[in-house]
Amino acid sequence: MDSKIIAPSLLAADFANLQRDIEMVNQSEAQWFHIDIMDGVFVPNISFGMPVLQAISKHAKKPLDVHLMIVDPDRYIKTFADLGSTNLTVHFEACTHLHRTLQAIKAEGMKAGVALNPHTNINLLEDIINDIDLVCLMSVNPGFGGQSFIENTYHKVSQLKDLIDRKGAKTLIEIDGGVTNQNAKELIDVGADVLVAGSYVFKSDNQLNTIKDLKKLANS
Ligand code: DX5
Ligand code: ZN
Repeated sequence: MDSKIIAPSLLAADFANLQRDIEMVNQSEAQWFHIDIMDGVFVPNISFGMPVLQAISKHAKKPLDVHLMIVDPDRYIKTFADLGSTNLTVHFEACTHLHRTLQAIKAEGMKAGVALNPHTNINLLEDIINDIDLVCLMSVNPGFGGQSFIENTYHKVSQLKDLIDRKGAKTLIEIDGGVTNQNAKELIDVGADVLVAGSYVFKSDNQLNTIKDLKKLANS
């Protein structure tokens, strides 16, 4: 069974043809949509907000994996639930009361994710890992698509995998940033469950085949 998940990031889609690109993902072998919300404060870039997510939600036929790169995400948990988010991921670095935030996400019926910037140590999750449905390891500095993969990510994946196993948690490990066919297999081999891919999918000539091949590689 194909248990490893491919989540194309719409940040790299053609925003003037968003419906077309959403339909492509609907038809593809990818299991999730990855949606990047940036506020220009937590990260030095602004992506898109609620009206665009509402439009995406209307056409997307697969779970929406929403990645919030915003300060004080607690303010918008209910809004993102109402917009159809399946997973809601907040940044560890943006949450003062992470435990409370995760409970609030779950209370709205969503899966709770925590993203870690490349410099944030895995050990910081020691006392919270059992409350997290998904850890998103940033393999680039958040804010932009198309950056190169940070090699230290492999080490972080194995550390996180050890922590999850040691604590008997059921947390999924997601990798976000610079994912290509060059690192996909190794990421899965060290413990990743979900691969986010933006530029690699949307800038390729045959997007359906790129997704298909990436998924095959991840599940080989
Ligand atoms: C970066 C975003 C990523 C981005 C990945 O801040 O969180 O999801 O869209 O894009 P690529 O795959 O192009 O690195
Ligand atoms: Zn992302």
